[in-house]
Amino acid sequence: MLKEVIATRYITPLREGGSLPGLVEADDLGTYVMKFTGAGQGRKTLVAEVVCGELARRLGLRVPGLVTIGLDPVLGLGEPDQEVQELLKSSGGLNLGMDFLTRAVGFDPLAFRVSPEEAGRIVWFDALVNNVDRSWRNPNLLMWHGDLWLIDHGATMIWHHHWPGAEASAAKPYDVSDHALVSFGPDVASAAAELAPLVTEELLAEVTAEIPDEWLADEPGFDSADALRRAYARPLLARAAVVHERIKGIDGSEGDK
Ligand SMILES: Nc1ncnc2c1ncn2[C@@H]1O[C@H](COP(=O)(O)OP(=O)(O)OP(=O)(O)O)[C@@H](O)[C@H]1O
Ligand SMILES: [Mg+2]
Repeated sequence: MLKEVIATRYITPLREGGSLPGLVEADDLGTYVMKFTGAGQGRKTLVAEVVCGELARRLGLRVPGLVTIGLDPVLGLGEPDQEVQELLKSSGGLNLGMDFLTRAVGFDPLAFRVSPEEAGRIVWFDALVNNVDRSWRNPNLLMWHGDLWLIDHGATMIWHHHWPGAEASAAKPYDVSDHALVSFGPDVASAAAELAPLVTEELLAEVTAEIPDEWLADEPGFDSADALRRAYARPLLARAAVVHERIKGIDGSEGDK
């Protein structure tokens, strides 16, 4: 399970985020980017953040540390901004927190260089989880102390919005023509050879064990949180072995421009 902290102070909203993530201070004196259960797509976005963030970390990619943050909605009462107040009021219980990377800058493909090896690993990972939110318009990559860090994995694993079609959905190709790193000549073949063997049933069990039970409760068609954890693991396990063959759009090949 992820470390759990309690929110003690709401600092400010991060206005560039569509889901209105906020900066909060917690009882361990840490500063976190907080994503709320009461926002937009709700808890499934947070589940995706945990599954993808913890999987990426175990594959050697850089992802800020994740925690769960307990929120007492009372914290919202003093908020002058109506939208923030509503969000806090509707997000009682466990929310997601991510270590705040102080003074990180947004990645700009024109201003930074990325090696084909690193680009390959990130593109391969995004293909695995079907990340639709790493385009050059909105890279969701941060530069911090000279390294590239991955954030914002809420828009991944589209199949978890419709479990009966999960298998078919997970078999689909991944088009990288708009990906933030496609211009760096991502070496997807090497990444697949290195990373696919690491994505085992055991590793996925470890990753999905990090999802808090309360974000998995009462999902139609599942009688336990662990059954739903296995449903998250299955498409990823199946996809890991073959996904490099389904990546379209590198070097203009087969991409749907
Ligand atoms: N861990 C972090 N450290 C520093 N800054 C961060 C961190 N996480 C997010 N940010 C900043 O906050 C912004 C919004 O975060 P994020 O992209 O995760 O939110 P979102 O609501 O899912 O956004 P989107 O509009 O892309 O859907 C990021 O673009 C980045 O500038
Ligand atoms: Mg974002």
